Amino acid sequence: MFDRRKFIKSSALTASLLAIDKTGIASVLPKAPTSADSVKPLVISTWDFGIAANHAAWDVLSAGGRSLDAVEKGVQVPEADPKNQSVGYGGMPDRDGKVTLDACIMDEDGNCGSVAALEHIMHPISVARMVMEKTPHVMLVGDGALQFALENGFQKINLLTPESEKAWKEWLKTAKYQPVMNIENKLYDKAAPTHLPGNQYNHDTIGMLALDAKGNLSGACTTSGMAFKLHGRVGDSPIIGAGLYIDNEVGGATSTGVGEEVIRNVGSFLVVELMRQGYPPEEACKEAVMRIIKRKPAKAKEIQVGFLALNKKGQYGAYAIQKGFSFAVCNEENKSLLIPAKSYY
Ligand code: GLY
Repeated sequence: MFDRRKFIKSSALTASLLAIDKTGIASVLPKAPTSADSVKPLVISTWDFGIAANHAAWDVLSAGGRSLDAVEKGVQVPEADPKNQSVGYGGMPDRDGKVTLDACIMDEDGNCGSVAALEHIMHPISVARMVMEKTPHVMLVGDGALQFALENGFQKINLLTPESEKAWKEWLKTAKYQPVMNIENKLYDKAAPTHLPGNQYNHDTIGMLALDAKGNLSGACTTSGMAFKLHGRVGDSPIIGAGLYIDNEVGGATSTGVGEEVIRNVGSFLVVELMRQGYPPEEACKEAVMRIIKRKPAKAKEIQVGFLALNKKGQYGAYAIQKGFSFAVCNEENKSLLIPAKSYY
């Protein structure tokens, strides 16, 4: 297990400042990059569909662009992909047959924007960015989010594809909700049947974290949420601190899986705060997963939650409750790395 004291002694003190604040609480602050440090751009994201998303983000990063632009461009790829039935257009609908989308975005200055239960818009991430940049608010939901999007030039479209409608009608025959772990891989696997038997659908999310050539971090997170959820259900993905958190002094984190458990533990904020204390990214993700397991051990056996983290130095890691979570990494050396995350079970 990660030994924080040993870590602080052995490495953090050499690479970081140990700051004592007014309350006497010590915190480890990673050394801020200087102009002498060469920052290597990097983008990471959840699941195998993150590979294609990373490529779009890399186009921005490799041209010297800003990490915020990179993550927006990156997650737009699965948002627009009708074959991806857990994000954006083509996402699984709720129980009433409505596709409702959740997304958030956060930049290097701690600015953030979010939309929840947004219908009819192909790119909720871009609406979230517009909430961040054009309003004094952080989050818009439902009809208000749609009104805002339409007033700002977004097109109203039907997000329910024939494939997802067929799956929903099949599900209605039994109308059971029983999450299946890592189903998002199966849904996206081109070799798998387009339609899995009723009640076999779960959900998942793309969370993306990027570090640009200036050493700035941003993140984005977007999903259609749990398949066949109650109308109005909002998961962790648009909740700043739960589905995504960025602190440009420390690092960023994002999550995937059953959003309710991530919200209960303010998962991504927790991961970033653990990294601030000196935890390496994978160990921070593991500790956040352990909080979920410790609180509800019986339930944890049945569900998947995974965290993905990137620190200011470009180190990354992930950890999940169950086997099967993978994440994609793209940098100068390797554009299409897919890494299986370690897991508790
Ligand atoms: N993690 C996505 C959701 O629970 O909606």
